[in-house]
Amino acid sequence: MRSRVGILVFGMTCFILGMVVMSNVDRLRGRRRPAAAVAQAPAAPGGGLGLDVVVPPPPAVVDFAGQPLWAYGFERRPEPGEKAQPQGAPSRKLRPNEPEEEQTRKRTLAGSTALYSLMDVRDGQHVIDWHPEDHPPMPDVIRHGPARLGEKTRGCGSCHLPNGMGRPENAAPAALPKEYFVRQIRDFRSGARRSADPRKPNTNTMIDLAKAMSDEEVAQAADYFSTIRWSPRVRVIESPLVPKTKIAGNLFLALEPTPTEPIGSRIIEVPENEERTETLRDPRAGFVAYVPPGSLARGKALVTLGGMTIVKDQIVQGKTTACTACHGLDLMGVADVPPIAGRSPSYIARQLFDIQQGARNGPSVQLMRLVVAKLTHDDMVDVAAYVASAYPPPKAAAEKAAVEKVAVERMAAIPPGRK
Ligand code: HEC
Ligand code: HEC
Repeated sequence: MRSRVGILVFGMTCFILGMVVMSNVDRLRGRRRPAAAVAQAPAAPGGGLGLDVVVPPPPAVVDFAGQPLWAYGFERRPEPGEKAQPQGAPSRKLRPNEPEEEQTRKRTLAGSTALYSLMDVRDGQHVIDWHPEDHPPMPDVIRHGPARLGEKTRGCGSCHLPNGMGRPENAAPAALPKEYFVRQIRDFRSGARRSADPRKPNTNTMIDLAKAMSDEEVAQAADYFSTIRWSPRVRVIESPLVPKTKIAGNLFLALEPTPTEPIGSRIIEVPENEERTETLRDPRAGFVAYVPPGSLARGKALVTLGGMTIVKDQIVQGKTTACTACHGLDLMGVADVPPIAGRSPSYIARQLFDIQQGARNGPSVQLMRLVVAKLTHDDMVDVAAYVASAYPPPKAAAEKAAVEKVAVERMAAIPPGRK
């Protein structure tokens, strides 16, 4: 009985907290475009997409002390002034350091009838498509990139893959709400979204692409990715040991099949099969994320309750707000608040740090800033581990149903006159 009352108290508190928080979201949304911060672009090129030109916020001063380096794919903190070199546009040119035959030989992939050479695989201006049946037909912008970039273009599918499931070092635009998607492009353009780590090259490329896209291309990309069903590619396992790794292009690659290195307070995410992921860029190939023992339970307490506890029948507030209050009980998003369940834990932790440090500072991210303000590096490990593991979400749905059932029973027990 006590535990039932406990569940009810928890449930009701979460609900009330959720209501309070959501009403704040609405308030903030209403004010999302303060007159001072937004300069209307001439002739409204946003075309109703809300792609108004936003005056960039001042550059954030980043405190690298708590940086989840593993989430950015680096081994050490940046030196003052260190920054990324611009990435060269992809091309079909033969590489001098590999035999020509290796690069031109057509390769196969189990489960696909397509044939591609390494030249095809690497040609991000004509994105290859091993599994056309997994997604709608790719519009030009997904396959070839923003037309305006000419010879420097690259297709969205080259980094995010034709199915939008992305990779740990970039992002998974699949199944994002359109409004959220467009907002991100706007924030990349305006300077409101960038990487807290100035060495991360592909975020800069993303920013250049966002600036180059026409409004029509933005709309096409948002439509395309938002219609793809979410089917995560990451398998989360708690483990005291991880394989020894090397970092290639901000992605960890396992150097040995068996884990021998202590995990420490890190998440190490590696391809399940390096040949499929790296050599062939198979969009169906997945990743293993090793997370520290105990991180899933600790993460769950933060994500579902904000770290709130009950001590001697008193509610003790946690250090954050339950993520479920805004991202939904199943963490699959609510309206234009994005889904986060089952996404790459490296990506999630990177966003938490970027938001905390103000490198991701768009108008709609302000409520997230309150949420992450007090999170330490280790909290980010725990939260990212749990969120990445929380898919599919039947458990959240079951818990919600249990709380509702108890609430309904208690309502039914109150005599009619007193309801
Ligand atoms: C060079 C690789 C690359 C290409 C090509 C690329 N992106 Fe990205 N994109 C990124 C990276 C990296 C991020 C995440 C930034 C971060 O974590 O710092 C990102 C993030 C995004 C996001 C935000 C996702 C989220 O969950 O908030 C969207 C939307 C997006 N890209 C759309 C596109 C579109 C549309 C195109 C094609 C015009 C494109 N990208 C092409 C690298 C790329
Ligand atoms: C008060 C509401 C609210 C709460 C609570 C909240 N979020 Fe968010 N979150 C948002 C909004 C709104 C966005 C979208 C921001 C934008 O448009 O750029 C967001 C964005 C994110 C993103 C970026 C997603 C992407 O694709 O890049 C991550 C990751 C995230 N939240 C994780 C969390 C976690 C983890 C928690 C709990 C510790 C949490 N959020 C709690 C409102 C919230």
